[in-house]
Amino acid sequence: MKILPENRLRRLRINPTIRSLVRETSYCISDLIYPIFVDETISEPREIASMPGVIAYPLEMIAEETASLQDLGINAILLFGIPAHKDEQGSGAWVKDGIVQKATRAIKEISNMTVITDLCLCEYTSHGHCGVLAGEIVDNDPTIELYAQTAVSQAAAGADMVAPSGMMDGQVAAMRTALDDNGFLNTPIMAYSAKYASAFYGPFREAADSTPSFGDRRTHQMDPANLREAFREMEADLREGADILMVKPAMPYLDVIREARVRYEVPIAAYQVSGEYAMIVAAAQNGWLDRQRAIQESIMAIKRAGADMIITYFAKEIAEGINEL
Ligand code: PBG
Repeated sequence: MKILPENRLRRLRINPTIRSLVRETSYCISDLIYPIFVDETISEPREIASMPGVIAYPLEMIAEETASLQDLGINAILLFGIPAHKDEQGSGAWVKDGIVQKATRAIKEISNMTVITDLCLCEYTSHGHCGVLAGEIVDNDPTIELYAQTAVSQAAAGADMVAPSGMMDGQVAAMRTALDDNGFLNTPIMAYSAKYASAFYGPFREAADSTPSFGDRRTHQMDPANLREAFREMEADLREGADILMVKPAMPYLDVIREARVRYEVPIAAYQVSGEYAMIVAAAQNGWLDRQRAIQESIMAIKRAGADMIITYFAKEIAEGINEL
């Protein structure tokens, strides 16, 4: 006797329209945030060698570039600054005429792009660490005071949301208090809560000129081996007033995204980082992966895991429509 399959799951996969009717996950441009670099040391756009297609812009061009992103349908950027001047403390991060402050004002003058400012000191310190040093490690408590000052300065320049990425303890509370005290009650904080000490940030450090001159970031970023600890970080950030929790990197940490989604009611962001971008681009350049399909699948996987919003260097390419489903 011929044995028939008990259930023919393939029935719903044959017709493409039916396939899309039963599709469980989707994403659109309004879920995406585009990271962008403004560099005070250049006068011409600079392509990041380890991130082909990603460009750092001089201050004079950043507003125009963001306006054209908006024409493509991208309405939120994550802004990183590379200052001309670095010092021990990273003062370029909070001065009124810092690169991020100037760029934010310029962008806001000609568009209504939503500007999320990354908030860390590693691009601004002469040693490339995320805060002031006590010996060889970052000194937590004086550093969060500087983060608080930076948050106020970024908000005063017009930032719509601030995103602390330094992984200092108490950073969210310090920033929330300072923002509130200065009248920025409605400026949300997107906390890089579960930020792992990852090899996948390599290309970014070339882009942002933020490689530590000695040591690494393992005394503050999380151990890739840990999951439970991520929820201690997230709970601390929630108690301190974070509005959005972020997991970073994305693809190697889909389990963290998923469980965060299940545990918390707040929006979850995921950051598909520079190394994740570089891997796909390099493999595609070698003809080893289909670029469009790999991009789509990676974004879909991050969304499926539970991210509400995704920070990705592919946002522009997706918006350009190369990546339509
Ligand atoms: C810190 C910061 C980093 C990234 C975002 N914010 C670098 C780091 O922690 O060393 C990495 C982003 C990426 O790799 O795309 N300012």
